[in-house]
Amino acid sequence: MTMDISSVLQGGYQHPLSRSWQAERQLTKSMFMYPIFITDDPDAHVTIASLPGQARWGVNRLEEFLGPLVKKGLKSVILFGVPMTCEKDGRGTPADDPNGPVILAIKKISQLFPSIYIACDVCLCEYTSHGHCGILHEDGTINSVPSADRIAQVALSYAQAGAHCVAPSDMMDGRIKAIKRALIDNGLGNKCTLMSYSAKFASALYGPFRDAAGSAPSFGNRKCYQLPPAAKGLARRAIIRDVNEGADIIMVKPALPYLDIISDAKELASNHPLAAYQVSGEYAMIVAGANAGVYDLKTMAFESVESIVRAGCTLILTYFTPQFLDWLDEN
Ligand code: PBG
Ligand code: ZN
Repeated sequence: MTMDISSVLQGGYQHPLSRSWQAERQLTKSMFMYPIFITDDPDAHVTIASLPGQARWGVNRLEEFLGPLVKKGLKSVILFGVPMTCEKDGRGTPADDPNGPVILAIKKISQLFPSIYIACDVCLCEYTSHGHCGILHEDGTINSVPSADRIAQVALSYAQAGAHCVAPSDMMDGRIKAIKRALIDNGLGNKCTLMSYSAKFASALYGPFRDAAGSAPSFGNRKCYQLPPAAKGLARRAIIRDVNEGADIIMVKPALPYLDIISDAKELASNHPLAAYQVSGEYAMIVAGANAGVYDLKTMAFESVESIVRAGCTLILTYFTPQFLDWLDEN
Protein backbone atom coordinates (compact mmCIF):
# COMPACT_ATOMS: atom_id res chain seq x y z
CA MET A 1 0.00 0.00 0.00
CA THR A 2 1.45 3.35 -0.96
CA MET A 3 0.20 6.65 0.37
CA ASP A 4 -0.82 9.31 -2.10
CA ILE A 5 1.46 12.38 -2.13
CA SER A 6 -1.40 14.71 -1.22
CA SER A 7 -2.29 12.58 1.82
CA VAL A 8 0.91 13.26 3.73
CA LEU A 9 0.81 16.30 6.00
CA GLN A 10 2.95 15.12 8.90
CA GLY A 11 6.18 15.96 7.11
CA GLY A 12 5.36 19.61 7.76
CA TYR A 13 5.26 19.56 11.57
CA GLN A 14 7.82 17.07 12.81
CA HIS A 15 9.98 19.58 14.68
CA PRO A 16 9.10 22.25 17.29
CA LEU A 17 10.41 24.90 14.92
CA SER A 18 8.41 23.70 11.90
CA ARG A 19 5.38 23.48 14.19
CA SER A 20 5.86 27.12 15.15
CA TRP A 21 5.82 28.09 11.46
CA GLN A 22 2.30 26.71 11.17
CA ALA A 23 0.95 29.69 13.09
CA GLU A 24 0.21 32.83 11.13
CA ARG A 25 1.40 34.81 14.12
CA GLN A 26 3.64 33.89 17.07
CA LEU A 27 2.72 34.86 20.61
CA THR A 28 4.80 37.73 21.94
CA LYS A 29 4.85 39.47 25.30
CA SER A 30 3.53 42.65 23.70
CA MET A 31 0.24 40.91 22.87
CA PHE A 32 -0.64 40.64 26.56
CA MET A 33 -2.44 43.34 28.53
CA TYR A 34 -2.80 42.70 32.25
CA PRO A 35 -6.09 43.66 33.98
CA ILE A 36 -5.36 45.01 37.46
CA PHE A 37 -7.63 46.10 40.31
CA ILE A 38 -6.80 49.31 42.12
CA THR A 39 -8.53 50.06 45.38
CA ASP A 40 -8.82 53.27 47.38
CA ASP A 41 -6.90 52.10 50.44
CA PRO A 42 -3.44 53.18 49.24
CA ASP A 43 -1.65 50.46 51.22
CA ALA A 44 -3.95 47.58 50.35
CA HIS A 45 -2.92 44.19 49.04
CA VAL A 46 -6.04 42.05 49.33
CA THR A 47 -6.21 38.70 47.59
CA ILE A 48 -9.39 37.92 45.64
CA ALA A 49 -10.75 34.51 46.56
CA SER A 50 -12.73 34.01 43.33
CA LEU A 51 -9.74 34.98 41.15
CA PRO A 52 -6.85 32.81 42.33
CA GLY A 53 -3.54 34.64 42.20
CA GLN A 54 -5.10 38.08 41.70
CA ALA A 55 -5.43 40.88 44.24
CA ARG A 56 -6.72 44.40 44.81
CA TRP A 57 -3.82 46.79 45.13
CA GLY A 58 -3.44 50.26 46.62
CA VAL A 59 -1.39 52.89 44.77
CA ASN A 60 1.41 52.74 47.33
CA ARG A 61 1.94 49.07 46.52
CA LEU A 62 2.16 49.39 42.72
CA GLU A 63 5.94 49.53 42.64
CA GLU A 64 6.35 46.19 44.42
CA PHE A 65 3.48 44.68 42.40
CA LEU A 66 4.43 45.82 38.91
CA GLY A 67 8.20 46.27 39.23
CA PRO A 68 9.07 42.56 38.90
CA LEU A 69 6.61 42.15 36.02
CA VAL A 70 8.05 45.11 34.13
CA LYS A 71 11.48 43.46 34.51
CA LYS A 72 10.04 40.32 32.91
CA GLY A 73 8.70 42.29 29.97
CA LEU A 74 5.22 43.50 30.95
CA LYS A 75 4.18 46.05 28.32
CA SER A 76 0.64 47.09 29.22
CA VAL A 77 -2.00 47.09 31.91
CA ILE A 78 -5.70 47.90 32.01
CA LEU A 79 -6.88 49.52 35.23
CA PHE A 80 -10.11 48.79 37.09
CA GLY A 81 -11.05 50.98 40.03
CA VAL A 82 -12.44 49.31 43.12
CA PRO A 83 -13.64 52.03 45.48
CA MET A 84 -14.45 50.75 48.96
CA THR A 85 -15.04 53.91 50.95
CA CYS A 86 -16.62 56.34 48.47
CA GLU A 87 -20.23 57.52 48.30
CA LYS A 88 -21.85 55.85 45.27
CA ASP A 89 -24.74 57.62 43.54
CA GLY A 90 -26.97 57.47 40.47
CA ARG A 91 -24.43 59.01 38.07
CA GLY A 92 -21.28 57.31 39.34
CA THR A 93 -19.72 60.52 40.64
CA PRO A 94 -16.65 58.81 42.19
CA ALA A 95 -15.59 57.44 38.76
CA ASP A 96 -13.67 60.59 37.87
CA ASP A 97 -12.78 61.78 41.36
CA PRO A 98 -9.28 63.27 40.88
CA ASN A 99 -8.31 61.55 44.15
CA GLY A 100 -9.97 58.26 43.20
CA PRO A 101 -7.91 55.10 42.70
CA VAL A 102 -7.87 55.09 38.87
CA ILE A 103 -6.63 58.63 38.35
CA LEU A 104 -4.06 58.30 41.13
CA ALA A 105 -2.88 54.99 39.67
CA ILE A 106 -2.50 56.43 36.16
CA LYS A 107 -0.22 59.12 37.54
CA LYS A 108 1.70 56.75 39.77
CA ILE A 109 2.32 54.13 37.09
CA SER A 110 3.37 56.72 34.48
CA GLN A 111 5.83 58.12 36.97
CA LEU A 112 7.20 54.74 38.16
CA PHE A 113 7.23 52.93 34.82
CA PRO A 114 7.18 55.39 31.89
CA SER A 115 7.47 52.52 29.41
CA ILE A 116 4.18 50.91 30.46
CA TYR A 117 1.15 51.43 28.23
CA ILE A 118 -1.76 52.35 30.49
CA ALA A 119 -5.30 51.52 29.43
CA CYS A 120 -8.29 52.29 31.63
CA ASP A 121 -11.55 50.45 31.68
CA VAL A 122 -14.32 53.06 31.58
CA CYS A 123 -17.60 52.14 33.21
CA LEU A 124 -19.95 53.40 35.87
CA CYS A 125 -20.99 50.14 37.54
CA GLU A 126 -18.20 50.22 40.13
CA TYR A 127 -19.38 53.72 41.12
CA THR A 128 -23.18 53.75 40.84
CA SER A 129 -25.45 53.08 43.82
CA HIS A 130 -27.48 50.64 41.67
CA GLY A 131 -24.49 48.86 40.14
CA HIS A 132 -25.63 49.34 36.55
CA CYS A 133 -23.26 50.54 33.85
CA GLY A 134 -25.20 53.68 32.88
CA ILE A 135 -27.62 56.28 34.20
CA LEU A 136 -31.15 54.98 34.73
CA HIS A 137 -34.67 56.27 34.14
CA GLU A 138 -36.99 56.06 37.13
CA ASP A 139 -38.34 52.74 35.87
CA GLY A 140 -34.85 51.24 36.00
CA THR A 141 -34.19 51.21 32.25
CA ILE A 142 -31.09 52.81 30.73
CA ASN A 143 -31.25 56.50 29.89
CA SER A 144 -28.94 56.41 26.86
CA VAL A 145 -28.02 60.02 26.11
CA PRO A 146 -26.94 61.12 29.60
CA SER A 147 -25.23 57.73 30.03
CA ALA A 148 -23.06 58.23 26.94
CA ASP A 149 -22.33 61.83 27.97
CA ARG A 150 -21.33 60.84 31.50
CA ILE A 151 -19.13 58.00 30.25
CA ALA A 152 -17.43 60.37 27.81
CA GLN A 153 -16.73 62.73 30.70
CA VAL A 154 -15.12 59.93 32.72
CA ALA A 155 -13.08 58.73 29.72
CA LEU A 156 -11.87 62.27 29.11
CA SER A 157 -10.72 62.66 32.71
CA TYR A 158 -8.70 59.43 32.49
CA ALA A 159 -7.15 60.61 29.20
CA GLN A 160 -6.33 63.98 30.77
CA ALA A 161 -4.67 62.19 33.68
CA GLY A 162 -2.36 60.47 31.17
CA ALA A 163 -4.03 57.20 30.14
CA HIS A 164 -2.76 56.01 26.76
CA CYS A 165 -6.02 54.24 26.07
CA VAL A 166 -9.60 54.44 27.29
CA ALA A 167 -11.75 51.35 26.96
CA PRO A 168 -15.49 51.74 27.59
CA SER A 169 -17.05 48.46 28.75
CA ASP A 170 -20.53 49.80 29.50
CA MET A 171 -22.19 48.92 26.16
CA MET A 172 -24.28 52.10 26.09
CA ASP A 173 -25.43 53.15 22.62
CA GLY A 174 -23.52 56.09 21.19
CA ARG A 175 -20.69 56.12 23.70
CA ILE A 176 -17.88 55.61 21.22
CA LYS A 177 -18.91 58.68 19.25
CA ALA A 178 -19.37 60.67 22.46
CA ILE A 179 -15.92 59.71 23.78
CA LYS A 180 -14.14 60.33 20.47
CA ARG A 181 -15.81 63.76 20.23
CA ALA A 182 -14.80 64.63 23.80
CA LEU A 183 -11.18 63.56 23.16
CA ILE A 184 -10.97 65.58 19.94
CA ASP A 185 -12.63 68.68 21.39
CA ASN A 186 -10.19 68.66 24.29
CA GLY A 187 -7.04 68.27 22.23
CA LEU A 188 -6.56 64.57 22.96
CA GLY A 189 -7.84 63.08 19.71
CA ASN A 190 -4.30 62.23 18.66
CA LYS A 191 -3.03 61.36 22.13
CA CYS A 192 -5.36 58.67 23.42
CA THR A 193 -6.48 55.39 21.88
CA LEU A 194 -10.15 54.46 22.04
CA MET A 195 -10.59 50.71 22.47
CA SER A 196 -14.21 49.67 22.28
CA TYR A 197 -15.63 46.68 24.06
CA SER A 198 -17.75 46.37 20.91
CA ALA A 199 -19.04 42.84 21.11
CA LYS A 200 -19.46 42.35 24.82
CA PHE A 201 -21.92 39.61 25.64
CA ALA A 202 -24.15 39.20 28.71
CA SER A 203 -22.07 36.31 30.00
CA ALA A 204 -22.07 34.07 33.04
CA LEU A 205 -18.30 34.40 33.00
CA TYR A 206 -18.07 37.82 34.71
CA GLY A 207 -18.93 36.50 38.19
CA PRO A 208 -15.44 36.53 39.73
CA PHE A 209 -14.82 40.02 38.34
CA ARG A 210 -18.01 41.44 39.87
CA ASP A 211 -16.91 39.90 43.11
CA ALA A 212 -13.47 41.48 42.78
CA ALA A 213 -14.76 44.90 41.72
CA GLY A 214 -17.96 45.02 43.78
CA SER A 215 -19.89 45.87 40.61
CA ALA A 216 -22.81 43.41 40.55
CA PRO A 217 -26.13 45.17 39.80
CA SER A 218 -28.30 45.61 42.90
CA PHE A 219 -31.41 44.63 40.89
CA GLY A 220 -32.07 43.08 37.49
CA ASN A 221 -29.28 42.15 35.09
CA ARG A 222 -27.35 43.59 32.15
CA LYS A 223 -29.28 41.81 29.38
CA CYS A 224 -30.73 45.04 27.93
CA TYR A 225 -27.30 46.48 27.18
CA GLN A 226 -24.79 43.60 26.95
CA LEU A 227 -25.42 41.40 23.91
CA PRO A 228 -27.44 38.17 23.97
CA PRO A 229 -25.01 35.22 23.65
CA ALA A 230 -26.77 33.91 20.53
CA ALA A 231 -26.74 37.29 18.76
CA LYS A 232 -24.26 37.04 15.91
CA GLY A 233 -26.04 39.72 13.87
CA LEU A 234 -26.11 42.25 16.71
CA ALA A 235 -22.44 41.62 17.41
CA ARG A 236 -21.60 42.28 13.76
CA ARG A 237 -23.69 45.47 13.78
CA ALA A 238 -22.05 46.66 17.00
CA ILE A 239 -18.59 46.13 15.51
CA ILE A 240 -19.48 48.04 12.33
CA ARG A 241 -21.11 50.82 14.36
CA ASP A 242 -18.10 51.28 16.63
CA VAL A 243 -15.70 51.35 13.67
CA ASN A 244 -17.87 54.11 12.17
CA GLU A 245 -18.08 56.00 15.47
CA GLY A 246 -14.29 56.25 15.73
CA ALA A 247 -13.01 53.26 17.71
CA ASP A 248 -9.28 52.64 17.24
CA ILE A 249 -9.32 49.05 18.53
CA ILE A 250 -12.23 46.61 18.52
CA MET A 251 -12.63 44.12 21.35
CA VAL A 252 -14.64 40.91 21.71
CA LYS A 253 -15.52 39.66 25.21
CA PRO A 254 -15.51 36.96 26.55
CA ALA A 255 -13.07 35.19 24.26
CA LEU A 256 -13.29 31.41 24.19
CA PRO A 257 -17.07 30.97 23.70
CA TYR A 258 -17.01 33.77 21.07
CA LEU A 259 -14.16 32.84 18.71
CA ASP A 260 -16.58 32.98 15.77
CA ILE A 261 -17.32 36.61 16.66
CA ILE A 262 -13.58 37.36 16.75
CA SER A 263 -13.26 35.89 13.31
CA ASP A 264 -16.24 37.97 12.13
CA ALA A 265 -14.62 41.07 13.62
CA LYS A 266 -11.43 40.24 11.76
CA GLU A 267 -13.40 40.45 8.53
CA LEU A 268 -15.61 43.43 9.45
CA ALA A 269 -12.91 45.58 11.06
CA SER A 270 -10.09 44.39 8.85
CA ASN A 271 -8.22 47.70 9.16
CA HIS A 272 -8.29 47.78 12.97
CA PRO A 273 -6.33 45.90 15.61
CA LEU A 274 -8.50 43.30 17.30
CA ALA A 275 -8.51 42.54 20.99
CA ALA A 276 -10.15 39.85 23.06
CA TYR A 277 -10.77 39.76 26.79
CA GLN A 278 -10.20 36.36 28.37
CA VAL A 279 -12.47 37.24 31.27
CA SER A 280 -12.41 36.37 34.95
CA GLY A 281 -14.65 33.30 34.61
CA GLU A 282 -12.54 31.90 31.76
CA TYR A 283 -9.42 32.33 33.85
CA ALA A 284 -11.04 30.83 36.95
CA MET A 285 -12.39 27.95 34.87
CA ILE A 286 -9.00 27.13 33.36
CA VAL A 287 -7.33 27.28 36.78
CA ALA A 288 -10.08 25.16 38.39
CA GLY A 289 -9.86 22.54 35.65
CA ALA A 290 -6.10 22.29 36.09
CA ASN A 291 -6.50 21.97 39.88
CA ALA A 292 -9.04 19.20 39.30
CA GLY A 293 -6.52 17.32 37.16
CA VAL A 294 -8.42 17.77 33.91
CA TYR A 295 -5.38 19.17 32.08
CA ASP A 296 -2.03 20.82 32.61
CA LEU A 297 -2.46 24.53 33.36
CA LYS A 298 0.24 25.87 31.06
CA THR A 299 -0.78 23.66 28.13
CA MET A 300 -4.40 24.73 28.47
CA ALA A 301 -3.57 28.41 28.92
CA PHE A 302 -1.45 28.29 25.74
CA GLU A 303 -4.17 26.50 23.80
CA SER A 304 -6.73 29.12 24.87
CA VAL A 305 -4.67 32.14 23.83
CA GLU A 306 -3.41 30.48 20.65
CA SER A 307 -7.02 29.99 19.61
CA ILE A 308 -7.70 33.68 20.23
CA VAL A 309 -4.74 34.71 18.08
CA ARG A 310 -5.68 32.18 15.41
CA ALA A 311 -9.19 33.70 15.27
CA GLY A 312 -7.64 37.10 14.50
CA CYS A 313 -6.52 38.97 17.64
CA THR A 314 -3.18 40.70 18.24
CA LEU A 315 -4.08 41.88 21.72
CA ILE A 316 -5.25 39.68 24.61
CA LEU A 317 -6.45 40.96 27.95
CA THR A 318 -5.83 38.15 30.42
CA TYR A 319 -5.17 37.48 34.09
CA PHE A 320 -2.58 34.93 32.88
CA THR A 321 -0.31 37.76 31.70
CA PRO A 322 2.27 37.39 34.52
CA GLN A 323 2.51 33.66 33.86
CA PHE A 324 2.91 34.16 30.10
CA LEU A 325 5.82 36.52 30.76
CA ASP A 326 7.54 33.53 32.38
CA TRP A 327 6.25 30.87 29.99
CA LEU A 328 7.31 32.78 26.86
CA ASP A 329 10.84 32.85 28.24
CA GLU A 330 10.83 29.10 28.87
CA ASN A 331 9.71 28.18 25.35
C1 PBG B 1 -17.66 46.44 33.89
C2 PBG B 1 -16.82 45.30 33.45
C3 PBG B 1 -17.04 43.93 33.64
C4 PBG B 1 -15.93 43.27 33.13
C5 PBG B 1 -15.07 44.24 32.62
N1 PBG B 1 -15.64 45.49 32.82
C6 PBG B 1 -18.15 43.21 34.31
C7 PBG B 1 -19.51 43.36 33.80
O1 PBG B 1 -19.76 43.85 32.70
O2 PBG B 1 -20.41 42.98 34.56
C8 PBG B 1 -15.68 41.80 33.17
C9 PBG B 1 -14.25 41.41 33.19
C10 PBG B 1 -14.00 40.03 33.69
O3 PBG B 1 -14.93 39.24 33.96
O4 PBG B 1 -12.81 39.69 33.82
N2 PBG B 1 -18.61 46.84 32.98
ZN1 ZN C 1 -20.09 48.26 33.96
